[in-house]
Amino acid sequence: MRTQVAIIGAGPAGMFLAHLLRADGIDAVVIERRDRDYVEGRVRAGVLEQVSVDLMTRLGLDDRLRREGLVHGGTNLALDGELFHIDMAALTGGSTVTVYGQQEVMKDLFDAVAPRGLEMVWDADDVRLHDLDGDAPFVTWTKDGAEQRLDCDFVAGCDGYHGVSRGSIPADVLKTFERVYPFGWLGILADVPPAEHELIYANHERGFALASMRSATRSRYYIQCALDEKIEDWPDERFWDELCVRLGPVTAAKVVRGPSFEKAIAPLRSFVSEPMRWGRLFLAGDAAHIVPPTGAKGMNLAVSDVTMLGEALRDFYGHGSETGIDGYSVRALARVWKAERFSWWFTSITHRFPDMDGFSRRLQMAELDYIRGSPAAQKTLAENYVGLPLEAA
Ligand code: APR
Ligand code: PHB
Repeated sequence: MRTQVAIIGAGPAGMFLAHLLRADGIDAVVIERRDRDYVEGRVRAGVLEQVSVDLMTRLGLDDRLRREGLVHGGTNLALDGELFHIDMAALTGGSTVTVYGQQEVMKDLFDAVAPRGLEMVWDADDVRLHDLDGDAPFVTWTKDGAEQRLDCDFVAGCDGYHGVSRGSIPADVLKTFERVYPFGWLGILADVPPAEHELIYANHERGFALASMRSATRSRYYIQCALDEKIEDWPDERFWDELCVRLGPVTAAKVVRGPSFEKAIAPLRSFVSEPMRWGRLFLAGDAAHIVPPTGAKGMNLAVSDVTMLGEALRDFYGHGSETGIDGYSVRALARVWKAERFSWWFTSITHRFPDMDGFSRRLQMAELDYIRGSPAAQKTLAENYVGLPLEAA
C-alpha cells in the first residue's frame, strides 16, 4: 500500500487532518489502534474556539454544530461563592465560544468518512514508524495477525500522549517540558438542566469547581479532588453536596440534581515536546502537548496544529514549496506555548494547592478581585479564552 500522508491516530487531530487533506486532494490513510466506538465514546471537554468552528465550517461539517451548539459570548468566575461575569464578546470585538462536546465533533468527523471516501484502518496493533529521517518513510502494523505496510511521503503523528510517534524522535533531539499538578478533576455528566446559562469557573476555599454543560438538558460538572481519591467514595449525593458548597449558595439554589451517567477522575498536566517536526514526521495535538483542562484548550490546540500542518502540506503538494513544512514546528509551538501559559495561569488562580499558605491564597483572591474590577485584565482573559489568532506562517 502507498499513500502521501500516513496519519497515526483517529482522535480530533488525526480526523481533522484527514478531512483537510481530503478536501485538498492529498491522499492519506488514518491508522488507529482502537475502534470507532472506543474513540467516539471518550468523554472530553466541550468548548470550541472560533478556529475550531471555522474549520468545521470550512469542511462542511457544521450542520449539527449550528443547530445544537450553544454559542456563549461570556463566562463566569466565582470567588468563594460570589459570581462575576466576563463579557468575552464585548471585550474581544465579538468573539464567542461554542459549547459542543468533543464526542459530537468526533461523531460528525466519523459520519463523513464513508461519504467522502476517507481511508481508515481500525484496530491496528503494534504500529511502528520507519525511516523517518530518509526520503521513503513507511509504517507497519499488524491486523488480524497479519503484518501490514504503508509507504508514504510523510507521517503525521496524531496518536496522543501515549502514542508511538513522539518516541520515534531520537532522544538527543527531543526536548520535553512538564508540570504535574497535585490534584485531579472529578467530572460527572447528568441529564439535568445546567445551573447557569454560561459556564462558571469557581475558586473556593475547599477547591475548584466548574459548572459546564452539553445542552439545555445535559450538565457537565467538575470538582477538584486529590489524586488518590476513589470514584467509589463519591456517590452522587456527596458529589452534588460538595459541588454546591463550592459554587456558593446563590448558584447552589439553581443546581438541579439527578443521577450521573458518567463519573471519572482525570489528572492535570502541562506538557510540551519540541520540535514538532523531525525528518518526515510531524507531531500534532496531544502527541506533542498536553494542557490542564482549565480553559478547554486541548482539542482546540489539536485543531490549530492540523490547520497549520494542512496549509504546509498543501503548499508542498500544490506549489512544491517546503517553506510551510520547514516552518511548521516553530509556528505551531508559538501558539501552543501561549495556550500552555494561559491554561497553567487559569489553573493556578482557580485551584487550591496542597501547600498553599495564607499568603498565596490571598494573592489568588487579589488576582480574582483584580480581574473583577479591571477591564484590561478581563480583556486579557477573554482574548485567550476565545482563542488567540492563528498567526501568519
Ligand atoms: N497506534 C495507532 N493509534 C494510536 C496509537 C498507536 N500506537 N496510540 C494511540 N493511538 C490513538 C488513540 O487510540 C486515539 O484515538 O491515537 C488517538 C489519539 O487521540 P487523542 O488522544 O484524542 O489526541 P488528539 O487527537 O491529539 O486530540 C487532542 O482531544 O482527546 C482529546 O484530550 C485530548 O483534548 C485533547 C484533544
Ligand atoms: C467541559 O464542558 O467538559 C469543560 C468546559 C470547560 C473547561 C473544561 C471542560 O474548561
